[in-house]
Amino acid sequence: MATPTLDKVEAESAASPYITVTFRIRRFNPEVSDQAEWQDFQIEIDPKERVLDGLHKIKWNLDGTLTFRRSCAHGICGSDAMRINGKNRLACKTLIKDINPEKPITVEAIKGLTVMKDLVVDMEPFFQAYRDVMPFLVTTGNEPTRERLQSAEDRERFDDTTKCILCAACTSSCPVFWNDGQYFGPAAIVNAHRFIFDSRDEAGEQRLEILNDKDGVWRCRTTFNCTDACPRGIEVTKAIQEVKRALITRRF
Ligand code: SF4
Ligand code: F3S
Ligand code: FES
Repeated sequence: MATPTLDKVEAESAASPYITVTFRIRRFNPEVSDQAEWQDFQIEIDPKERVLDGLHKIKWNLDGTLTFRRSCAHGICGSDAMRINGKNRLACKTLIKDINPEKPITVEAIKGLTVMKDLVVDMEPFFQAYRDVMPFLVTTGNEPTRERLQSAEDRERFDDTTKCILCAACTSSCPVFWNDGQYFGPAAIVNAHRFIFDSRDEAGEQRLEILNDKDGVWRCRTTFNCTDACPRGIEVTKAIQEVKRALITRRF
């Protein structure tokens, strides 16, 4: 086998896409301490890789106790929402090169939900609010022999809110939700919207009454954090406004 020349080794090294990046991660382990603390890790990573790849490198090579959720790794399952450089994002959709890798990249759990360990929060209150708005089609019979037909215009009415992947980036970026965790939160309202404005559904009134609660839509202060945070680009605040309007006019 030919021995690589020094020139070749230097050229390959110069062409290497890898850079050294510091991940500053907020660690919490209730079995060790009741205080969270920041921990730095330095890794070599291609800037075209994602924050999730960086977390994998740390977990697989440096510290196997680092705890976070992820499943699909492609922006579909919604399990890896976290605060990256102070903003809610999906780790699997955030490229290193897009978040200034020259400074330490801070990674912490989403806010407003109890941290169980490191980047993992208790999602139960979030999913309870989701269940409470009845996120399923309700009809009173008249089962069609084939599919339930719907015009393209009627389908368009709720197209945006069908895109939700239940990542909680919106709800956990909402200052009203941070306040006491009692507010239904934008994600639950988005999923109520998806059925309230579906012409095939018959429980719109019921869902509106559920959201007419003291912890329902009226608590939204139109802060827009939720819209900014949504990795699916859903116009979350607009959907909430439409639900408020439907509550006033009873037209949907
Ligand atoms: Fe995530 Fe957007 Fe759904 Fe909120 S509305 S849970 S941010 S996908
Ligand atoms: Fe909160 Fe979004 Fe309303 S951030 S206050 S739910 S506009
Ligand atoms: Fe599934 Fe990121 S791992 S959305």
